[in-house]
Amino acid sequence: MRQRSSILSDQRAAKRGLWQITGDDVRDIAAYVWSLGRSDVSVAELPGDPDEGAALYASMDCSSCHIIDGAGGTMGPVLTNIGRLRGIDHLREALLDPGATLPENPVASAAGSIYLLVSVQTRDGRRITGTRVNEDTFTIQVRDEEDMFHSIRKDDIVSLQKRFGESLMPSYADTVNEGGINALVAYLATLRGGS
Ligand code: HEC
Repeated sequence: MRQRSSILSDQRAAKRGLWQITGDDVRDIAAYVWSLGRSDVSVAELPGDPDEGAALYASMDCSSCHIIDGAGGTMGPVLTNIGRLRGIDHLREALLDPGATLPENPVASAAGSIYLLVSVQTRDGRRITGTRVNEDTFTIQVRDEEDMFHSIRKDDIVSLQKRFGESLMPSYADTVNEGGINALVAYLATLRGGS
């Protein structure tokens, strides 16, 4: 997906739901957590400068979607602790290829929210694209790209597309050079909770 922050300006408080976790989900959660590859690399050993990364973070409007230390938007996961939760390779991949960092069957992230992108077409001709907040046998709840919450009855749906591997987060592979990515990764690695 391409840049969406322009339409995310007026964000309201997130309405988040909780998943009912099945046996399959538990397996996926285990695999996902395992794949996150935490590492104990110290920030000083990284090629990028965390201060430069902090400045980039501020200038690139990452905070329209992410919260650090209580400030920011709710479209993406909270990053306050991300340096403790995630390894360096995962952080880099999250910037270069968002969506690839999501498992096939996405589960709760650090923030306890799920970021599976879905497109729903309803019988009455509405098309809603956003992140799945919750789903059961009869209904699906979706937060759309303008942060509007929709609860849709499955009886009213003509097509439901689950867009695994895609993300609302733009890729920075073409817009930020290697030095900038290194700086952002170093900054993210310093985010270990508290202020
Ligand atoms: C349009 C909203 C949006 C913008 C802008 C955005 N992100 Fe994201 N970000 C997301 C979403 C949604 C996810 C979760 C899905 C995914 O991993 O692709 C995410 C995931 C991440 C993750 C992985 C989190 C985890 O739990 O592993 C990191 C790190 C991250 N973003 C950093 C950034 C940085 C740094 C910037 C600015 C350079 C940025 N994001 C800009 C929406 C956004």
